[in-house]
Amino acid sequence: VNTSLESVVHGANLYLVQPFLKPQTTALMATGNVLEVCGNKLLVLTVATEETDGFLRFMQSANYFNYTVKVLGMGETWKGGDVGRSIGGGQKVRLLKEAMEALADQEDLVVLSVDSYDLVFSGGPEEILRKFQQANHKVLFAAEGLIWPDKKLAEKYPAIRSGKRYLNSGGIIGFAPYINRVVSQWNLHDNDDDQLFYTKMYLDPLQRQTLNMTLDHKCQIFQNLNGAVDEVLLKFGTDRVRVRNTVYDSLPVVVHGNGNTKIYLNSLANYVPNTWNYELGCSHCDDDIVDLSQLKYPNVLVGVFIEQPTPFLPEFFKRLLTLDYPKDKLNIFVHNNEVYHEKHIQKFWQENRNVFNTFKVVGPEENLSQGEARNMGMDICRKDATCDYYFSLDTDVMLTNRQTLKLLIEQNRKIIGPLVTRHGKLWSNFWGALSLDGYYARSEDYVDIVQRKRVGMWNIPFMAHVYLVKGSALRNELKERNVFVLEKLDPDMALCRNVREMGVFMYITNRHDFGRLISTANYNISHYNNDLWQIFQNPVDWKEKYIHQNYTQIFTENYMEEPCPDVFWFPVFSEKACDEIVEEMEHYGSWSGGKHEDKRISGGYETVPTDDIHMRQIGYDKEWLHFIREFISPITLKVFSGYFTKGYSIMNFVVKYTPERQAYLRPHHDSSTFTINIALNNKDTDFQGGGCRFHRYNCSLNSPRKGWSFMHPGRLTHLHEGLPTTNGTRYIAISFIDP
Ligand SMILES: *[C@@H]1O[C@H](CO)[C@@H](O)[C@H](O)[C@H]1NC(C)=O
Ligand SMILES: *[C@@H]1O[C@H](CO)[C@@H](O)[C@H](O)[C@H]1NC(C)=O
Ligand SMILES: *[C@@H]1O[C@H](CO)[C@@H](O)[C@H](O)[C@H]1NC(C)=O
Ligand SMILES: *[C@@H]1O[C@H](CO)[C@@H](O)[C@H](O)[C@H]1NC(C)=O
Ligand SMILES: *[C@@H]1O[C@H](CO)[C@@H](O)[C@H](O)[C@H]1NC(C)=O
Ligand SMILES: *[C@@H]1O[C@H](CO)[C@@H](O)[C@H](O)[C@H]1NC(C)=O
Ligand SMILES: *[C@@H]1O[C@H](CO)[C@@H](O)[C@H](O)[C@H]1NC(C)=O
Repeated sequence: VNTSLESVVHGANLYLVQPFLKPQTTALMATGNVLEVCGNKLLVLTVATEETDGFLRFMQSANYFNYTVKVLGMGETWKGGDVGRSIGGGQKVRLLKEAMEALADQEDLVVLSVDSYDLVFSGGPEEILRKFQQANHKVLFAAEGLIWPDKKLAEKYPAIRSGKRYLNSGGIIGFAPYINRVVSQWNLHDNDDDQLFYTKMYLDPLQRQTLNMTLDHKCQIFQNLNGAVDEVLLKFGTDRVRVRNTVYDSLPVVVHGNGNTKIYLNSLANYVPNTWNYELGCSHCDDDIVDLSQLKYPNVLVGVFIEQPTPFLPEFFKRLLTLDYPKDKLNIFVHNNEVYHEKHIQKFWQENRNVFNTFKVVGPEENLSQGEARNMGMDICRKDATCDYYFSLDTDVMLTNRQTLKLLIEQNRKIIGPLVTRHGKLWSNFWGALSLDGYYARSEDYVDIVQRKRVGMWNIPFMAHVYLVKGSALRNELKERNVFVLEKLDPDMALCRNVREMGVFMYITNRHDFGRLISTANYNISHYNNDLWQIFQNPVDWKEKYIHQNYTQIFTENYMEEPCPDVFWFPVFSEKACDEIVEEMEHYGSWSGGKHEDKRISGGYETVPTDDIHMRQIGYDKEWLHFIREFISPITLKVFSGYFTKGYSIMNFVVKYTPERQAYLRPHHDSSTFTINIALNNKDTDFQGGGCRFHRYNCSLNSPRKGWSFMHPGRLTHLHEGLPTTNGTRYIAISFIDP
């Protein structure tokens, strides 16, 4: 054990692990001792020219197991070609050759040479050494079922009874003198193929024997995922998670996302080795946290995208305004693609333009495609060195958590999105896996993440609608300006593919409840107040906007009154609901005039006519009945116990009382089992007089409250009249329920 690392490691960066130190600060920390098992020591060598997210993840897993890792080539220019797509990688052999020269005489030293960008450890060095010993060879290469890069060499491979037949150069383990003898034969170029080099050597029977080389056919140490995705499963333990190969019943120690299995490796590494498990949850979620309390708040550019007619836009902007973040640190860029929404933006801008540091709107007249608009927003941040973060936010995202922006910044990732989901649905803003053609595929953990049964930060292949990107990443890895435009992909898919190909990890966090996604589908904007119609598509937002703040207290605290016998009085509509219904009716404008002849009703004759408009006339009857079932029926059940209303009604209308037209309604019964009567405006401010008198009890309700409804039996006991409105205009909404 006493071979101090100085003699082993010189020149290159050495990353010693426990505790995990930031690589930048770790150069030449040659203090530890190399692990020794059965008289052998293990040194991990890897080539990485950049500290990619994949590299840092590799180091994190190495640190966890206390591997001693020497990194070769950091900071060098990569000249080894695009190994993901074609041949190359020779630079790795060259660097390894250079490093091995100094180690050539270390007979007890076992060297493990592995890739690092797409690889994690799932077991420790003792286990590797033990398994290497069991393999009883001097040099052991990883194996895989697919041959690359020269298929013609297949027949030259020694026959095997079972297991993976072909060599993969992403993992090599051997005694230092032997590894040295292998790599010292390299005399090719940096962009020549490393795997081909090793393959040819291995296929040469003489070399195979003299260098005592073999392959890890049954994935005892090395698991290459390419072609083997179906063979592996996660195996959860109490403090760590492993990968199990179900075909060979092995627990590989090195998991390699070779070929096009990077995304799959990312999903495995959300668990392996100790990223997340059932007992401990997320173990790295608080690593590298940015402490905002110790920091000047970073500057954030918020890109707001209105790409289609979107319900509840004023509410979206209100939430933007109430984000808990210093507004002078926020710059707003809005892309609005819809003429319809110009009035909403105009209103918001007039009231709040001075709240934010800057506020810029690009409107529909610019005729930007969605990709162009998203590029433009991102580019504003990229070009401005003071822009610390770019926060992209589509207007169908309702961030109910005011801390969202802070929480995301604290996580300190290049790209991170908060999980938002469609209420009551499994629809969310991320994908856990991709299909072969790059579209949605459901990962095994997707539902658990959406439902927050597994809580943490998840490396995922696709996200949209809302995400935070570091300005520094925009100016480095993502400096390409056109990330949202790629082939025929839609802009979000283009972004995510570019980000993946740049080797940048995207995370979704579900550590908090952040908010929800609303539905923009079938949003009909031909009404005057279109959100009123959203009771089916977006019930949560509808309720929040239109139902009285104290409605639920009816059930929790019996928040209601009984001003006359069996007349129940309770809050149901918000001010907004009242105002918008009145506006909608006045916009429609065809009041009936309070005549007895009425073509709208069966029989065509109304004995006690009011000056009114039916819900059906404005196309609101389905929505209104749904409102009755959702919000009135539960109250009926409470006050008339044992009566289950069908929530059925054909007479649903808004009545207008004015001294000039119709001021009152003479005593009458309603053709209903019970009636609701909702005041839509305010006594004294909007009108004088009004109210309702119940004759049998000589009891009047003289001070109607806006948004409150009363509910009374219809046919028999509650003969009533509408008291005269003496000034102004009074509006009420009526339904005769269960006629
Ligand atoms: C790594 O080393 C530290 C300190 O020596 C030790 O506490 C820890 O248990 C080791 N980790 C593993 C996985 O062996
Ligand atoms: C490889 O080396 C081991 C000892 O390390 C020896 O037992 C074995 O026979 C050798 N195999 C070959 C094919 O030379
Ligand atoms: C808007 O752009 C589209 C395609 O980019 C083009 O077909 C259309 O003519 C443009 N409309 C206007 C008004 O410029
Ligand atoms: C939108 O609403 C208008 C007015 O009620 C109606 O005429 C039209 O059919 C609706 N459009 C859709 C697609 O539902
Ligand atoms: C709801 O009730 C509380 C008291 O319980 C009251 O202060 C508040 O004003 C009520 N909200 C509305 C919108 O009336
Ligand atoms: C009705 O009540 C009013 C006071 O609220 C009272 O003045 C009047 O006499 C009552 N009428 C009858 C018929 O009881
Ligand atoms: C009627 O209402 C208007 C304002 O709405 C007010 O100016 C006027 O004084 C009121 N008239 C009476 C008789 O109260």
